[in-house]
Amino acid sequence: MDMDTIDPAAASTARYSRGAILMHWLIALLIIGNVLGAWVSEDMPKPDRAAIMGLHKAFGITILLLTIARIVWRLMHRPPPMVETLKAWEAALARVTHWLFYILMLALPLTGWAFVSGASQGKPVSMFGLFNMPALPVGFDKATVGTFKDLHGTLGTLIVALFVLHVAGALKHQFLDRDGTLRRIVPFLK
Ligand code: HEM
Ligand code: HEM
Repeated sequence: MDMDTIDPAAASTARYSRGAILMHWLIALLIIGNVLGAWVSEDMPKPDRAAIMGLHKAFGITILLLTIARIVWRLMHRPPPMVETLKAWEAALARVTHWLFYILMLALPLTGWAFVSGASQGKPVSMFGLFNMPALPVGFDKATVGTFKDLHGTLGTLIVALFVLHVAGALKHQFLDRDGTLRRIVPFLK
């Protein structure tokens, strides 16, 4: 369907492209896994915690690389027009939420990587044992390392809060407004 001709019926049924949908759900799963991994491993014995956090770091850097690709692609492709029945505040809130997500999806892995780089005094990060990513050039002093650690924790809490808001919005549009918003990003929904 040609989206340049403004046909309201077509616009309201428009979906994100396959690639955008794939990226959305792949990155969403990886972020959820990373948050849960950090949380559930917190009180585990050291070797178990280290194994899970090894995956946390490698998946985290994977999220960073995927997010850079996604943002570049997003800046070159316009998403389908928003559902027309959205109120102005709903559209504005959705936009702010989405761009805050993108910022956090960059800042969260970067602060984690910076923290680990400083805490390990410049050791590279193993990517699933396949290859290494070099340490980021940050200071090894306690203050710097502590700042990145705190930032990473705070941004982690923020992305969880944003996630709750985002999912609440999706469910509101699906079950209260019934306006087809969720269908835009879930390929099999009718
Ligand atoms: C950590 C997990 C998630 C992240 C980081 C995330 C992030 C995003 C971002 C950045 C967009 C905007 C895409 C764009 O236009 O550039 C988006 C759209 C959307 N997401 Fe998520 N999402 C997550 C999980 C979910 C979940 C679990 C649901 C459903 C329950 C969901 C439902 C939606 C919907 C319906 C849209 C389209 C909104 C619209 O039509 O404007 N997302 N998501
Ligand atoms: C989008 C990707 C990421 C997400 C969603 C994420 C999320 C989190 C969360 C929620 C915590 C728990 C914070 C707390 O409660 O104190 C955490 C801890 C941690 N993260 Fe990440 N993280 C990501 C990427 C990374 C990366 C790329 C690295 C390193 C290369 C990393 C290294 C760590 C470490 C070492 C901890 C434990 C900090 C401590 O000892 O208290 N994270 N992360």
